[in-house]
Amino acid sequence: MSEALTGLKRSCMCGNVTEEMIGQEITVMGWVQRRRDLGQLIFIALRDRTGLMQIAVDGNVAAPELFQKAEASRSEFVLAVRGLVAARTEGNINPNMKTGTVELIASEIRILSESETTPFQIEDSITVKDDLRLKYRYLDLRRPNQLYNMVLRHKVVQEMRNFLDTQDFLEIETPILGKSTPEGARDYLVPSRVHPGNFYGLPQSPQLYKQLLMVSGMDRYYQVAKCFRDEDLRADRQPEFTQVDMELSFVDVEDIMDINERMMQKTFKEIMNVDVPLPMDRMTYKEAMERFGSDKPDVRFGMELVNISEVVKDTEFVVFQNALQAGGSVRAINAKGCGSFPRKKIDSLVEFVKTYRAKGLAWIAINADGTLKTQIAKFFSEEKLQEIVSAMDGQPGDLILICADSDKVVYDSLGALRLELSKILELTKADDFKFIWITEFPMLEWDEEANRFVAVHHPFTAPMDEDLHLLDTEPGKVRAKAYDIVLNGYELGGGSIRIHRRDIQQKMFELLGFTPEDAQERFGFLLDAFQYGVPPHGGLAFGLDRIIMLMTGATSIRDVIAFPKVKDASCPMTQAPGLVEEVQLDELGISINEVEEVEEVTE
Ligand code: AMO
Ligand code: AMP
Repeated sequence: MSEALTGLKRSCMCGNVTEEMIGQEITVMGWVQRRRDLGQLIFIALRDRTGLMQIAVDGNVAAPELFQKAEASRSEFVLAVRGLVAARTEGNINPNMKTGTVELIASEIRILSESETTPFQIEDSITVKDDLRLKYRYLDLRRPNQLYNMVLRHKVVQEMRNFLDTQDFLEIETPILGKSTPEGARDYLVPSRVHPGNFYGLPQSPQLYKQLLMVSGMDRYYQVAKCFRDEDLRADRQPEFTQVDMELSFVDVEDIMDINERMMQKTFKEIMNVDVPLPMDRMTYKEAMERFGSDKPDVRFGMELVNISEVVKDTEFVVFQNALQAGGSVRAINAKGCGSFPRKKIDSLVEFVKTYRAKGLAWIAINADGTLKTQIAKFFSEEKLQEIVSAMDGQPGDLILICADSDKVVYDSLGALRLELSKILELTKADDFKFIWITEFPMLEWDEEANRFVAVHHPFTAPMDEDLHLLDTEPGKVRAKAYDIVLNGYELGGGSIRIHRRDIQQKMFELLGFTPEDAQERFGFLLDAFQYGVPPHGGLAFGLDRIIMLMTGATSIRDVIAFPKVKDASCPMTQAPGLVEEVQLDELGISINEVEEVEEVTE
């Protein structure tokens, strides 16, 4: 039975009914959260976006038709209810409910729509597999915490828009069907019907367009922009995600940092009532790597890396010697209070670092009486061990964990181990927000596989003026005018001052291994534009999903995106991606190599 809405108008949202409204007639509409049947008395908790409202139907006084409707109502039925707001009797007050002191004495109930039994209960405290939740994401979103995430996301975007408006930014949309933008991931491609064999690239970011908008004189641009990257998914990565993207003309690094940290401060204050002290801390990339083994350090706790290469350089232990001779280092962290970890637990840490390509992990546990327990005793004199302990400021009860390898492996391993230990030891609180800027990123990094330099940020990032002279001689040492804004170990956003000189841009393409023809073919429109008066410019893009994830304490950005994808980039709800009709492929001039066919060929 589905009744019409005719003649009824919603006058109040469920969660907004207050004691001031006692005696008034109102109409609410929503979903049945639950029905309690006490014989002649039926209570229905009706839910909408704002919360729950108790509906009461007393069989002793209600018309039989009304009572039947109440009786027929099941979980997740959609009802419209007209009635009088009344105070609940003393024993029926529910202090845990926003509307717990009032109820609605129904005079009319319409069942607008019925519902099958849902595959899971519409409650926060359910334990169901993510795949099932996402298959029925529209039901999952009815749960209060998922709904809260959407509301918060809306408010954050609203707040940022308002802020950027006060700073004279223009919101401008850039194309989705465009030319591929290099941000380091694979492009999603869209075939063209009109130009068979040609493809649009979905934007990995609006990078090139926003730079062109600066050439156009738009001065300050922003966009809440959908970006697409075909890369491996992680908890903080989706194939399509949203950036709050901006670009400004006639600015330097300081100006961009200033605007963005003020925007974060305002947003966190307005939305979370969290005070973010300004200016935010800053750290160079080099310092971040040396101290935290990461370019997105979680600075809510210490356990910093210490370089003990000098201390151990004259010891016999081959593992350390080999690492040092190969140009690597020996570094360690002090896990305070972990000296009493059972052997099995320490072994699990050794296994953990191996996933970061470390060959092993040496450890020294300091017993309560100051004596040492270590698996590397036979390689070191007692004095040497004590020297290491003192370099690490080791106290009784501490556990010193040492890794020897190339700097990259040591940083990756100890950086990750530090985070792992912070989880084991519960060193951090989700509602403690510690921002930090990471600056002076290297401009290029050597890609062993491709045997060439790749841009650390992207090819349009300007070198630091101090390092310009190294461009020809030691490009690997050139630092960039690039910065990331990091929150609690996550890269929230990143940006740079751009190259605005055509000659340097060309030099950069050259360093990245593009022939002049390649560069012209891929980015000719940008190089051309650079002939016509380019203001010095720069910008930044925030990962909106990540901001919301950290604000809500969610463990994955999936929980803050209305319809996210799962690990293999598919959507359990719509089953995207899917096959298409043969005629569609024909129109596009595309034929598919069937997997079976490929196998036949290789056999
Ligand atoms: P970048 O590539 O650093 O910079 O991206 C900016 C921010 O976007 C977020 N982000 C992601 N979020 C979810 N899923 C993903 N797959 C994903 N990839 C990136 C991160 C990141 O910090 N055009 C430049 C910005 C600029 O220079 O102005 C850019 O896109 O939070
Ligand atoms: P091995 O001589 O390979 O048995 O190693 C002796 C000890 O040193 C083992 O406990 C290893 O876990 C540890 N170890 C091995 N490789 C490394 C390394 N690269 N850094 C730190 N410790 C290591």
